[in-house]
Amino acid sequence: MTQSHDLSSTIEALVRPGKGILAADESGPTIAKRFTAIGVESTPENRRAYRSLLLSTPGLGEFVSGVILYEETLGQCKEDGEPLPALAARQGIVPGIKVDTGKGPLALAPGDEITQGLDGLPARLRAYVKLGARFAKWRAVYNVSDSLPSRGAVEANAESLARYAAICQTEGVVPIVEPEVLIDGDHSQARCAAVTQEVLLEVFRALHRHRVALEHMLLKPSMVVPGKAHVRQAGPGDVADETLRVLRRTVPAAVPGIVFLSGGQSPVEATVNLDAINRLAPQPWRLSFSYGRALQDPVLQAWRGQPDQVQAPQAALLKRARLNALASLGRYDA
Ligand code: 13P
Repeated sequence: MTQSHDLSSTIEALVRPGKGILAADESGPTIAKRFTAIGVESTPENRRAYRSLLLSTPGLGEFVSGVILYEETLGQCKEDGEPLPALAARQGIVPGIKVDTGKGPLALAPGDEITQGLDGLPARLRAYVKLGARFAKWRAVYNVSDSLPSRGAVEANAESLARYAAICQTEGVVPIVEPEVLIDGDHSQARCAAVTQEVLLEVFRALHRHRVALEHMLLKPSMVVPGKAHVRQAGPGDVADETLRVLRRTVPAAVPGIVFLSGGQSPVEATVNLDAINRLAPQPWRLSFSYGRALQDPVLQAWRGQPDQVQAPQAALLKRARLNALASLGRYDA
């Protein structure tokens, strides 16, 4: 099989109508924060138990086409010894892997951040493929204020995202390109729209520069929403209009799918907004979800680290997955 055949078949498996992606790739510090909130210690065993519970949810593959895992999970097994990536695949869910190594301050650019992880990436990808990964994710973040992000941060993160995507395609791995315009702050929806437009224009310029095949990647953007602390919050109609206006101006039709992050929206908001977006069909690309918190928050609440609690957390996951799957078709009925 050629590399390009691998990439096409992975894309096809990921963008099935009425399905989306489960982001379960929280890094060590992030999963520790989520566990602390429910009074659970973040040990390798607790992380293994929790992520086994997610992936073994009966029927999950009906609504979820792919799962993004953290490196540690890729090497972990279910209690009965089945590797977790194999368990996902058995459910009809394509395993993927977060490959950036996190973000840090961008030097000489106060308030801006840059994502790391390009060093040694080709070799790491080859190892991940051996463990079953077929797609990858890299997240760049943009803090928003009147003066942020700086032009330098927009260009530097676009360059890294494009270099990552090019390396992935060379290794036969589908890249998910994730530029997240953060929801933190009191900026307006118009400011979010302006920043998102500038960010996406630069990301696609860099992808072209690095010869990334747009047909063989997915975009994972944030929706265009006001800052969390802004005085006026936006309803689903405004979120859908503004998000699609920016996406239509910046994302070529060759991109097969756009899978949103939830980025601090509540689980219900994330579903309602995705549904509103899909009610404005048809669009050039498939529009679905790649949610972390919006899928998992209710699961963590139901689980709370209790080993005998399996059914309730799994039911909570299946419910959110099913409702978001409906929203990805514009058929969610609140
Ligand atoms: P959220 O949906 O919680 O924003 O997570 C998605 C993700 O993958 C962040 O990188």
